Amino acid sequence: MGPAAYALLRRLADGRTHSGQKLADAFGVSRAAVWKRVGSIRAAGLHVASAPGIGYRLERGLELLDAGRIRAALGPRAGDRGIAVFPVVDSTNRWLADRARAGADSGALCLAEMQTAGRGRRGRAWVSPFGANLYLSMLWRFEQGAASLGGLSLAAAVGTVRALESKGMTGAAIKWPNDLYFDGRKLAGLLVEISGENTGPCRAVIGLGLNLRMPESARRAVGQPLAELVELPGADAVGRNELAAAVIGAWDEALDRFAREGLAPFLDDYRRLDLTRGRDVTLDAGAGRYQGTALGVDGQGRLRIRLAQGERAFAGGEVSLRLAPDRSRGGRTGDNPLHSPTGIED
Ligand code: BTN
Repeated sequence: MGPAAYALLRRLADGRTHSGQKLADAFGVSRAAVWKRVGSIRAAGLHVASAPGIGYRLERGLELLDAGRIRAALGPRAGDRGIAVFPVVDSTNRWLADRARAGADSGALCLAEMQTAGRGRRGRAWVSPFGANLYLSMLWRFEQGAASLGGLSLAAAVGTVRALESKGMTGAAIKWPNDLYFDGRKLAGLLVEISGENTGPCRAVIGLGLNLRMPESARRAVGQPLAELVELPGADAVGRNELAAAVIGAWDEALDRFAREGLAPFLDDYRRLDLTRGRDVTLDAGAGRYQGTALGVDGQGRLRIRLAQGERAFAGGEVSLRLAPDRSRGGRTGDNPLHSPTGIED
């Protein structure tokens, strides 16, 4: 979506009806030009109703991301950190990694309404339609080397759930190492990209893709059942900027603590939220495939699996984990989000 269509969207975001003529006057363009921009907004997947002679209305309205509102919600915590908000960017992680190379400070942020090349784990794409979700990346610099950041993605996942819980949204769980699930379906993914020295200063770009309300076309593109934040109790009351600020604040605290104390202060919460423990799992680790029972995580955040030949711990990174259907549920659908009866694909 270009700047002109985005400017129009900002007007329509209130969900009210705006007359075509008034919009044309406000932007100093013809009504035909307004119509064309409405076309660009629709092409981005948003529903703009039009009534001839009356005007245009964005169905349901939309709280657009806004650096000023995020800064205000963060309060003193915002400091002077950079908060970049794009209507469209290729990938917030990619953009922020570039800024990191150019010297951006720890805590710098990048958010976007849409990503054209959103990145998921293991080289996969992250479907990122306009205005439907949260795409948020934060840079964090560490004095200690990359070798000690093994549990970082788990700490970031715990921080993300704490943010949701702090806003009254309960029921999210973590599928090892750092996916968020609700009711057995994927709610959010985290992509942690680390660069720098193995034993000296290094940096991490932590990216979150959190489903808020996915359009049907995007659901089809994802190709696996997904959950949306609007399903969680209390989600309706929280705006997108407030939600982003809650995640940022929780990450600030989590990353600061992780840098000082490692994973230990997160393990109780991780175990409380762990969707994987006790489940039959299949883990693909490039070199081999392992089947067994997940026993939970060790002190470094590695997944312990009981295999036929004994117990073994696996680090996250480039591995894929599939959970078999939960036998304890006997194949029934139920209301416990931590124990979905269905199998879970990575
Ligand atoms: C996963 O595969 O589960 C991780 C998905 C991470 C997606 C987020 S969206 C914001 C940030 N920018 C990206 O390109 N990816 C991450």
